[in-house]
Amino acid sequence: MKVGREACVASLVVSVFILLWMGMVRVEATPFRKFLPHALYGRRGPSLSHDYRDALTKSILFYEGQRSGKLPLNQRMRWRADSALSDGAAEHVDLTGGYYDAGDNVKFGFPMAFTTTMLSWSVLEFGGRMGDNLDHARAAIRWATDYLLKATAHPGVIYVQVGDPNMDHKCWERPEDMDTPRNVYKIDAEHPGSDIAAETAAALAAASMVFRATDPTYSGHLLQTAMRVFDFADKHRGAYSDSLQSEVCPFYCSYSGYNDELLWGAAWLQRASRNVSYISYIQSNGQNLGAEDNVNIFSWDEKHAGARVLLAKEVLLRNSKSLQEYRGHADNFICSLLPGTQNSQAQYTPGGLLFKMSDNNLQYVTSTTFLLFTYAKYLTVSKQVVRCGNIIATPTRIRTLAKRQVDYILGDNPLGMSYMVGYGAKFPEHVHHRGSSLPSIYQHPRIIPCNDGFQSLYSNAPNPNRLVGAVVGGPDNNDRFSDERNDYAHSEPTTYINAPLVGSLAYLAHSSYA
Ligand SMILES: *[C@@H]1O[C@H](CO)[C@@H](O)[C@H](O)[C@H]1NC(C)=O
Repeated sequence: MKVGREACVASLVVSVFILLWMGMVRVEATPFRKFLPHALYGRRGPSLSHDYRDALTKSILFYEGQRSGKLPLNQRMRWRADSALSDGAAEHVDLTGGYYDAGDNVKFGFPMAFTTTMLSWSVLEFGGRMGDNLDHARAAIRWATDYLLKATAHPGVIYVQVGDPNMDHKCWERPEDMDTPRNVYKIDAEHPGSDIAAETAAALAAASMVFRATDPTYSGHLLQTAMRVFDFADKHRGAYSDSLQSEVCPFYCSYSGYNDELLWGAAWLQRASRNVSYISYIQSNGQNLGAEDNVNIFSWDEKHAGARVLLAKEVLLRNSKSLQEYRGHADNFICSLLPGTQNSQAQYTPGGLLFKMSDNNLQYVTSTTFLLFTYAKYLTVSKQVVRCGNIIATPTRIRTLAKRQVDYILGDNPLGMSYMVGYGAKFPEHVHHRGSSLPSIYQHPRIIPCNDGFQSLYSNAPNPNRLVGAVVGGPDNNDRFSDERNDYAHSEPTTYINAPLVGSLAYLAHSSYA
């Protein structure tokens, strides 16, 4: 074939363009990307955009891997099977269902309730942006609320935990094989637990709004139960870890006490019920419950920051006069997170990740990020900004910080790795999780007893079952992560790392695909 000079030049130009284009892509892609100054893409946002919708789908799918009890036919996480079908038998009650909190097989009620509250809040703020994922998110909430309704079915008693954590932690067993003691722990008027009771009330109240339109009967039952449980929490004051010391500490000890949960619970009840008695409660008790305390961490234990944002909504969107002070409290919380403001208290890693604690740091990142997106939403709707000294924090500025955190989790970080299992090209393969690290019961039907499982804990092989969507504890303060199964402080997923991330991903999924 005769090729003319013009065609030759044209194909040369095209080739050069293709090479240039490939070069750009390669620089942006890992591992070259790590040589780019993070401040650059920290400010502008990453130039490779993430598939937030995929991440959202996976973040919800994760909850199927944590399910306890009889699994439904539509279970998508196929390597799991039924487990703990006699939970509650020790007390002659039905306590089957609910979630294992993390990589073990204990049903800890305190983090389960907080997880439920945050999944519900995610749906309440950003459910309209979830598309096909909304039904799955509701199912993830209902898996928890069905259990919490069982745990609160008998007035005057709340079942707060199933499984002896000390015995459970001595074994490395699949939930399906579990033969450790399924002790049942409870609180009552003589052994109070205002922390876990008020968090359970918050969870039921928040979930009642999730189901209000789709299942009003269920929703009403959730709200009535929430009111009764909150009343119990308030009337019988005490920390559940006082009477259940060796069963809940050091696992989910109530370190911060119960004042934060009482304020948070009342905030949820006022939003869900619109009963003015909760506003009066907050007005007369807020100060004693630490409304003004300078706390800038938000977690399964410490809820003040969440309560501030939730109550500031009443000021910003409903013009509440009686809750006016919470606008200021919420603003202060936001300012404390923004780098460069005079009351900034936040630390960031060199790679740009909010850093609170060396153990399981990503739980604080996802919870804080959700509050940032949520507050930015309230500010946008009310056409307000936050003033941090001389710096004005617009909703855009707040969202940029929040998006940076999500992008870090999904792979825009010095290691170029995603901290969500099954998302992106490189993600944790040695997750600290019994079920995920042992062969599936469908591959290996014979029981793997307590001690035999430890071979899997210490093995270098990747987990045989992918716990898709699980976000692990994450990197250290220097952006390092070793992906070692025995390093539970960094390699263990938990239900409460994912719960607020679901909301943030829904926001971003919609924004990039709209
Ligand atoms: C409002 O809440 C209070 C306290 O829980 C309760 O006694 C009262 O019946 C509630 N009112 C309505 C209208 O539900």
